[in-house]
Amino acid sequence: MAKKSTTKKADTTLLVGIDLGTSRSAISSDNGKKKWVESYVGWPRDFIARKVVGKPMLFGEEAVKHRLSLDMYRPLKNGVIKEGTARDEEAVKELIRHLITLVQNAKDAEKIRAVVGVPAESFKVNKVALKKAVAEFAESLFVVSEPFAVAYGVGALDNALVIDIGAGTVDFCIMHGTVPSEEDQRTVLTAGDYIDQQLFTFLEERYPEADFNLNMIRRFKEQHSFVGNAEEEVEVEIPVEGKSTVHNITEEIKRACESILPAVVESTLELIAKFDPEYQDAIRENIILAGGGSQIKGLAEYLEKTIGEYGPTKVRLVEDPLFGGADGALELAREMPEDYWTNL
Ligand SMILES: Nc1ncnc2c1ncn2[C@@H]1O[C@H](COP(=O)(O)OP(=O)(O)OP(=O)(O)O)[C@@H](O)[C@H]1O
Ligand SMILES: [Mg+2]
Repeated sequence: MAKKSTTKKADTTLLVGIDLGTSRSAISSDNGKKKWVESYVGWPRDFIARKVVGKPMLFGEEAVKHRLSLDMYRPLKNGVIKEGTARDEEAVKELIRHLITLVQNAKDAEKIRAVVGVPAESFKVNKVALKKAVAEFAESLFVVSEPFAVAYGVGALDNALVIDIGAGTVDFCIMHGTVPSEEDQRTVLTAGDYIDQQLFTFLEERYPEADFNLNMIRRFKEQHSFVGNAEEEVEVEIPVEGKSTVHNITEEIKRACESILPAVVESTLELIAKFDPEYQDAIRENIILAGGGSQIKGLAEYLEKTIGEYGPTKVRLVEDPLFGGADGALELAREMPEDYWTNL
């Protein structure tokens, strides 16, 4: 890999890598700053709302906090900028603009070069929408699938399989020493959000008197997620008729987390089986898990065992599930030859 940047046109160009996610979006820039935000954009509903929130638009956690006053958008829900809905396009544009302002220093240039990682499926659908969205404030753009950005960041460019477990999608990408093509990639729509819905349903069935919402459910999952054998009982406090009460949710957490596994295993096996037989073993021994869902306890071990029935298998985790995609995209921005960039 080239150490020196060959793409920088002038000292005034800021390079950024952006990971546009369903639930969280992250940015890394070559001035050393990194930031992330929940992928929510909200506009005040009326003039009262505008007065209450005091801003023309809110992002992330702040938007969630004021959601009752806002028209809320989660523009990459299901991995696509919904076609034809101007507001979703607008929301993506504002989200990217916001991310850039978070890392841009006043002395930094107006010129921005952005590599944007998006869920693999949306890669197919809306490159044009994305171009439109960033044309206003970036000089040049390159759009990649998120697992490719992750792979680039960890230097897994040859004989590797990246599985990025996000909120809306699980994205798969086989790396074989070239820029991956469409057939090297796959997307499954049962990911983190799906686990939350499953857990919600299971707990509603088991504890009909308990009073909880999807936010609490996601928090329980993020604190206690696991597959396989439980190391300890999972107990959480959920109010019953206004009184905080301890509930055991071990079995429900396990079932909910395991609900995404069959599709993950199936897609992994299919992608590998489609690949040149001589390299299948090498890929199986170089599987990399990324994204928030990679933090589920026991996941790597489970996949090693299950996929291991087809031959020796090694599964490892990226070091930084939050910034892995953005860091990889930045690395790409630094090293990519000039003719790959789309000038806007
Ligand atoms: N410790 C954890 N255990 C299980 N799931 C977790 C954990 N921490 C975060 N998550 C889940 O990971 C998901 C978010 O991951 P990530 O930020 O990679 O998604 P995203 O990039 O926004 O989504 P996508 O890639 O689908 O667009 C959420 O569903 C979140 O609840
Ligand atoms: Mg993601």
